[in-house]
Amino acid sequence: MEKKISIAIDGPAAAGKSTVAKIVAEQLGYIYIDTGAMYRALTYKAINHKLNLEEEENLINMLNETVIELFPGEQGQLIFLDSKDVTKEIRSSEVTNSVSIVSKHKLVREEMVRRQQMFAVNGGVVMDGRDIGTHVIPTAEVKVFLLASVDERAFRRHKENIEKGYESDLEQLKQEIAARDKLDSEREVAPLKKADDAIEIDTTSLSIYNVVDKIMELTREKISN
Ligand code: CDP
Ligand code: CDP
Repeated sequence: MEKKISIAIDGPAAAGKSTVAKIVAEQLGYIYIDTGAMYRALTYKAINHKLNLEEEENLINMLNETVIELFPGEQGQLIFLDSKDVTKEIRSSEVTNSVSIVSKHKLVREEMVRRQQMFAVNGGVVMDGRDIGTHVIPTAEVKVFLLASVDERAFRRHKENIEKGYESDLEQLKQEIAARDKLDSEREVAPLKKADDAIEIDTTSLSIYNVVDKIMELTREKISN
């Protein structure tokens, strides 16, 4: 039987991680895990319960009593929070603009990483996030760090919003993405950072399938070795 490996895809907001990770997982018959969705789910619950997001203790207590499940759906991954489908709710701008405060806490990250590592025990996983290659699966056979300019990333999100019929302000998106990148890159615990052995791909002028092909090529090399 073909060897099942782990593929770690990291990078800043809207670099195309989840889009390409999903396609790569489909092509390989692997499971896809969107770790950002887990931080988003906790953030959504914490906002609803009016927690102070700067206070770690309340957040970790809440997380310890929270069930976050990921299921494959026809239109992509479905996220369930305590048995309720929150796939749409966790993408709100309120959650997006607060999630980096929640994700900076050490105890929150430790528990999230513990849960994420359970998905990866048997290989056959494509996982995307910020610290997958550095902390969650440091032994991943394929590690990719996706980049794109802030302008390009804001434009991609803008286009996506317009296509979905949402209101969207390109300049505001640019500022929000830059602010989130800064928080994620400068936090003390497991900041957004390319793993030393990750392959960097600048996707600014690449199509989704260009990026998928590059990752598939790296994967085939590892599987056949
Ligand atoms: O899809 P997008 O790039 O907008 O973000 P995401 O992948 O859904 O992640 C949302 C947020 O969760 C990030 O901005 C980080 O603050 C946090 N995150 C993290 O700290 N570590 C991860 N492995 C994944 C996400
Ligand atoms: O997961 P992450 O936040 O890194 O990004 P994403 O949600 O996968 O991608 C953001 C948007 O960029 C999506 O609408 C993708 O279709 C688009 N995209 C693109 O236009 N070109 C690429 N090479 C990758 C993604």
